[in-house]
Amino acid sequence: MLTMQKQKLCYLCPSLVLFLFSSALLSSGAELCNPTEKEALLEIKHSLGNPHILRSWTPNTDCCKTWYKVACDSQSNRVIWLKVQYSHLVGQISPAIGRLTSLQIVSFYKLPNLYGTIPQSITNLKNLQFLELAHANLTGPIPLFLTQIHSLTDLLLTDNQFSGSIPPSLVQLANLENLSLDRNKLIGSIPENFGSFRNPILYLTLSGNQLSGPIPRSLANGNFSTLDLSRNKLAGDAAFLFGNGKLFEIDLNGNSLSFDLSNVKFYEYLQHIDISRNKIYGRIPTSLTKLMDLHYLNVSYNSLCGPIPAGGLLQSFNETSYFHNKCLCGAPLLSCK
Ligand SMILES: *[C@@H]1O[C@H](CO)[C@@H](O)[C@H](O)[C@H]1NC(C)=O
Ligand SMILES: *[C@@H]1O[C@H](CO)[C@@H](O)[C@H](O)[C@H]1NC(C)=O
Ligand SMILES: *[C@@H]1O[C@H](CO)[C@@H](O)[C@H](O)[C@H]1NC(C)=O
Ligand SMILES: *[C@@H]1O[C@H](CO)[C@@H](O)[C@H](O)[C@H]1NC(C)=O
Ligand SMILES: *[C@@H]1O[C@H](CO)[C@@H](O)[C@H](O)[C@H]1NC(C)=O
Repeated sequence: MLTMQKQKLCYLCPSLVLFLFSSALLSSGAELCNPTEKEALLEIKHSLGNPHILRSWTPNTDCCKTWYKVACDSQSNRVIWLKVQYSHLVGQISPAIGRLTSLQIVSFYKLPNLYGTIPQSITNLKNLQFLELAHANLTGPIPLFLTQIHSLTDLLLTDNQFSGSIPPSLVQLANLENLSLDRNKLIGSIPENFGSFRNPILYLTLSGNQLSGPIPRSLANGNFSTLDLSRNKLAGDAAFLFGNGKLFEIDLNGNSLSFDLSNVKFYEYLQHIDISRNKIYGRIPTSLTKLMDLHYLNVSYNSLCGPIPAGGLLQSFNETSYFHNKCLCGAPLLSCK
């Protein structure tokens, strides 16, 4: 009996030793945080104005153990993500971020007083997949050097003060799945080559800028699942977009687009179409009644005329999807004379 128990105990021996060893490491404070990375993080903290949300970042604690807003890889102990969010901190993004070379996820989000430009050293982050600098007060152009970060899948620069035109070289980011440049101060036209993003699926929003000129024809064949070009100053034709067989959601509202809707071809699995507040004319084509996945339609505030075709899902939308046109009639609007 006794030997049995001893044997049983000894099964546990190796893991017990490992457990004691690692808790000894923890309590003895054997530092996991890479010293170069700790120094870089403290520079970042300083540049952000030493905000209260980063009070756990102190020189004599371990960035991999007790610091908020960062995480280290469990094998290499290198910092792999950095998320500074929801704060009124006043400061800038330090170039020291370029020394955290294992970063995969960076998010500076809802920091209305974060100012300055994107530091060029960010191109050192060869593993960076998710870059979110959103709802802040960053300025300057959308830097060309971002196209050097080939690992990027998400580039989200929503709601800042980025200005200038959109760099065509962004299409070189072959892994890009989500490009959000909405609500900035971007001018000029949409790059001609924006139909040639390589990834099989792309969410693209350029909404709420001051983009002008025609929509490039190349977008007709692009791999977009969502295309949001709303609230810009785009003009001319957009009829060629609706046949794109990858597209589920298209939002063109609030531009100056002007084309005849009467004979437009619609991809049959479109789910969301907003073309309100433009200068679109002609009739609503009967082919729209064939779209059986359509959750949202809005053609209001245009110059459309004639009867709203009866059938499909077209009568499931209320009058606000159709009102303020030249002479549309029929359900859900008043019946045609
Ligand atoms: C944003 O930056 C601009 C100048 O770059 C400045 O005038 C403005 O006050 C800043 N806004 C906030 C909320 O910090
Ligand atoms: C892309 O990012 C935006 C935020 O900018 C988010 O709302 C949207 O859901 C994302 N789309 C995809 C497909 O990840
Ligand atoms: C779209 O994705 C497919 C893969 O589904 C790819 O073969 C094609 O090259 C992509 N389109 C463009 C314009 O790169
Ligand atoms: C019309 O439909 C939208 C979306 O379902 C809804 O939010 C809105 O309240 C409706 N308006 C009226 C006047 O029924
Ligand atoms: C359609 O768009 C117009 C103009 O932007 C808006 O007033 C209306 O509420 C929208 N209707 C729906 C159903 O969203």
